[in-house]
Order: sequence, then structure tokens, then C-alpha cells
Amino acid sequence: MKNDVIIACDFGSAKEAFEFLDLFAREERKPFLKIGMELYYAEGPEMVRELKRRGHRIFLDLKLHDIPNTVRRTMQVLSRLDVDMTNVHAAGTIDMMRAAREGLTRPDGTRPLLIAVTQLTSTSQERMQRELLVDASIDEAIAHYARNAREAGLDGVVCSPLEASLVKAACGPEFLAVTPGIRFADAATDDQVRITTPARAREIGSDFIVVGRPITAAADPLAAWRRCLNEFCPETLKNA
Ligand code: C5P
Repeated sequence: MKNDVIIACDFGSAKEAFEFLDLFAREERKPFLKIGMELYYAEGPEMVRELKRRGHRIFLDLKLHDIPNTVRRTMQVLSRLDVDMTNVHAAGTIDMMRAAREGLTRPDGTRPLLIAVTQLTSTSQERMQRELLVDASIDEAIAHYARNAREAGLDGVVCSPLEASLVKAACGPEFLAVTPGIRFADAATDDQVRITTPARAREIGSDFIVVGRPITAAADPLAAWRRCLNEFCPETLKNA
């Protein structure tokens, strides 16, 4: 299950998302997809059910951050969608993350992977200190949030690929590093700050890379996805 490219389906409607996914229709191996707030709020749970029916694995990226009781009850609802991975903000505290895990666990004891956002990859250390009044360095903040997530029983964190080795050092090799902030060596960075290439992300220890615009806005999205797989997890292509 580890080492895969997750395409961020950041579209505003099911129509746009399906038009994009039609490009992958002939692929035997269905891409792992991330559904974030934009598409989920536009189309709701039926979108998730439809993509599961089509054979995609789904990371439902809703980044919950609320009081523990609300997060527990919301995760109970989301657990019925049969997604493969979902997440919360580690800033919501250990209690909130424990509540999320409890809520997500189905009556038979199974549950999707649950990971926590440490610091968004668009946040620089300067902004974190000046605007959020977090006095620590960004590395200290991330390692600390990751340890909190592990203490709450979560499976890993979302972080920049540049922080994957830091997370592994703090929480152990099995603790997952799911990393957005991926750009090809020859491409624009957009609004992302702490970024690297798919190949380098693998070297530093990412377990999954989350790639949005480098694939969704590419002239040839299928080729861009294959380029990501080829750089990040060539072994999966051999099995395809
Ligand atoms: O287009 P791009 O590759 O920058 O998309 C990255 C995706 O990963 C977006 O959907 C964004 O919401 C998400 N993400 C992120 N940083 C985090 C957590 C999620 O960029 N820390």
C-alpha cells in the first residue's frame, strides 16, 4: 500500500473532475486520488462513492479541526464512506486527534489511515512565527506535532517532503510521511514554499506524494502522472 502518487483532484465540480479522469480511463491501474474541500463541498459524499465504485483509492483531505466531540462524530459519518485515508490538523491537540481516531474506527475495528497536517506546505517559518506566534523553528514545530500525532495513535502526518526524514527520526520509520509540495525540477512553484521533486521526495523518505497542479494543469496530465510514478515509485510501473 505504501509508495504511491496521489493526484490532488482540486476541481470545483464533478463534471470537471470526470473530464479530467476520463484521460486515465484506459489505465489498468487506477490513480490514487485526493478529494479536498473544494470538490467535497461542491459535490458531497456521492462524489466519493462514485470514485470508489470506479475503483480509485481515495484520500479524503478535509483537514478537520474542531472540538473533539464534533470531530469524533464527523469521523463516524466519514468512516461509512469507505475511503482509504483521511486527516485532521495536528493543531487541534492530542485529545482531538484521539477523538478522530475513535470516531473513524468502524464497529469491526477497521478504519482508514488517519494522518495529521503539521504545518501547511505553503507556510514559511517567518509567517508561522510572525502571524501564528509559534516561537519554535519550523522543524521543531513539525517534529513536535508529529510526535503528538503518534501519541494520539495516528498513522502519520502530512508534511513537506523536505521534512520526511525529520518526521521519521522523531516517530520511527513506519510512521507515514504523506507529502504535498511536489514540483518537477523544470516547473513553476505556484504558492508552495517547502517543495522538492518526486525523485528527491522518495530519497528523503516520503511514503506517498500528493501532486496537484503539476498533473492537473499539465498539457498532458497522463504523461505528467506517469513521470511522477517513474520518478517516485518506478517499481509500481513494472507491475502495471
Ligand atoms: O497543486 P499542488 O500540487 O500544490 O497541490 C497540493 C495539494 O496538497 C493541495 O490539494 C493542497 O490542499 C494539499 N496540501 C498541501 N499542503 C499541506 C496539506 C495539503 O499543499 N500541508
